[in-house]
Amino acid sequence: MNKTPAQLKAEILRLTREYSALTHGANRPAPDNAAPFVPGTTTVPYAGRVFNADEVEAAVGSTLDFWLTLGPEGAAFEAELAAFLGVKHSLLVNSGSSANLVALAALTTHKLPAHRRISPGDEVITVAAGFPTTVAPIIQCGAVPVFIDNDPATGNARVEQLESAHAAGKTKAVMLAHALGNPFDLGTVLEFCRKHDLWLIEDNCDALGCTYSMPVARAHVLGFTENSPGIPSDGRHVTRYTGTWGDLSTQSFYPPHHLTMGEGGAVNIVHRPPLKTYAESFRDWGRDCWCASGKDDTCGKRFQWQLGELPKGYDHKYIYSHLGYNLKPLDPQAAIGRQQLKKLPAFIAARKRNWETLRAGLADLGDYFDFSLPTHATAWQPEEKPETGKLKPEVTESNSGFRSQVSGFTWDSSGSHCDPSWFGFMLRVQATAPFSHTQLAQHLDQKKIGNRMFFGGNLLRQPAFVQLKRDRPTAFRVVGEFPGADEIMHRALFLGTYPGLTPAMLDYEIATIRAFVRAG
Ligand SMILES: Cc1ncc(COP(=O)(O)O)c(C=O)c1O
Repeated sequence: MNKTPAQLKAEILRLTREYSALTHGANRPAPDNAAPFVPGTTTVPYAGRVFNADEVEAAVGSTLDFWLTLGPEGAAFEAELAAFLGVKHSLLVNSGSSANLVALAALTTHKLPAHRRISPGDEVITVAAGFPTTVAPIIQCGAVPVFIDNDPATGNARVEQLESAHAAGKTKAVMLAHALGNPFDLGTVLEFCRKHDLWLIEDNCDALGCTYSMPVARAHVLGFTENSPGIPSDGRHVTRYTGTWGDLSTQSFYPPHHLTMGEGGAVNIVHRPPLKTYAESFRDWGRDCWCASGKDDTCGKRFQWQLGELPKGYDHKYIYSHLGYNLKPLDPQAAIGRQQLKKLPAFIAARKRNWETLRAGLADLGDYFDFSLPTHATAWQPEEKPETGKLKPEVTESNSGFRSQVSGFTWDSSGSHCDPSWFGFMLRVQATAPFSHTQLAQHLDQKKIGNRMFFGGNLLRQPAFVQLKRDRPTAFRVVGEFPGADEIMHRALFLGTYPGLTPAMLDYEIATIRAFVRAG
C-alpha cells in the first residue's frame, strides 16, 4: 500500500533521529557528550554547536516542508525569543553582524524626529576593543563612531569617559557590546543616555541569558519596574536580561554563541513598537509594506497608497521607504533555533558552571594572571560548599556591597550587580610573568586546547582602521588614549565555557595551564 505524505515524513524523521543519535554523539551537551576524550589528542574546542536529534529532526522536517524563506518557523522563533527575553519584538536576520547593521540603520530613518534621527556625520559612542561588526555599521550608515577606552578587568567600556565623548547636537546613540557575556555598566550608560536623549543599542551577541540587577529606586527612575520573565524578585533590585535595557539589542546565532542556527541573528525591539517597522524595512529591501512572507494586503490598502512621487495606487508591495538590504535567514534555520531555545536555560547554567570551574582551578595563579571580573564585582572567592542539610549563607549587605550567593563575587557600592552567562573565560597574562599571552596561546594550541584573543583587540590598530584613518581622517573620532584596549590586545586571551565542555576537558585545561606556569 502506498504511504501517505504524513507517513513518509514521520518515517524520514524517525530515521533522521536514529541517524543523529548514531553520528552526533560528540555534539551533545555535557554530560551526555559521547566523544571519547584523550587528553592531548582530542581537541578541546573553545566553542561549537551543541545539539542532539531534536535540532536535526527540526531541520529536516522544515526542509521537507520546503517553505525555505523566512516563514512559520521564523515567526514562531521570533515570538518565542521575544517571550523569553520579555521584549516587544524580536526580528530574525542572517547574522549578528546583520543585526547590528539593521539596528543602527533603523535609527537613520526619516520617520524619526530630526533630533533623534542618526543623520550622516552624527556621532555614535562605542568602545575600542571588541568585535569589528559592533562598530562597522556605524560607519556603513554614514555616522561617526567615537571611541572610548576599555576597562581591561571587565573588557567593557570605561563609562567614566562617556561625558567627554559627548558632543551636543551630534551624539545620537551609544552602541556597546556586553564583552564576552560580561554586562557593561547599564546603570551608568542608561543614565547618560537619558540625560542626553540618546538611543542605546546593546550588542548582546555574546550575552544571551546574562542578567543585570540595579536597585529598585534607580531602575524606576530609568523607567524599569519589572524583572525579565521567570526571574524571581529579591525585593530590592530590578533584574533583567541584558538586551532588554536599551532601545534595541542584537543577538548572534553563529555556532560559538549561546544558541545556534548555523548562521543567524536577531534584532530585539525592547519597548518602542515603531522601531520594529523601521528595522523590518531595512532588513527587507527597504520596503514600506509589512506583509509577512506569502501574504498580500495586510494593511487592506495595497492599491490606495500615494507615497513619494509615485502615482496613487502604486502596488504597496513595491514601495520602498528606505535604502534597505535583504538580510533574512531561512526557515529551516529558525526551526533549528526553536529547539535550541528550549535548551537555553540549561546552556546558560552550563556556561556559568564551566566559568566557575576554570576560575576555581586557576585561583592560586594570581601571580601570573589577572582574571576577569563581572562589572561591579571587586573580588571573587570560591564558594564554600554548604554541608549537607545546611542552608547556603544569607546574602548580607554592607556599605561595600554584598556577596553574591550565586557566584562568590563581592560587589562595589553602586548597589548594582550582574550574573554573566559567559561567552568565554578571559584572563590577562601579567606584564611580569615569564611568558607572554602569545606564548601561552601557542602552548595551548600545541596541547589542542581551543583559545582566542579578545576578538580584534584594539580595533583602531587593525589594518582596516589604520587605512580608514589615512583615507578619511574624520571617519571616526577618539577620546584620549587607549591603555585599557591596548592592554587587552597585548595580554588577554580566553578559553571556552560552552556547554559541550566535559569535566574531563576542563580538568585537562586547568592541569595544562598549571604545568605551563610551573615550567615558566
Ligand atoms: C560582540 C559581537 N557582535 C557581533 C558579532 C557578529 O556576529 P555574527 O558572527 O553572527 O555576524 C560577534 C561575533 O561573534 C560578536 O562577538
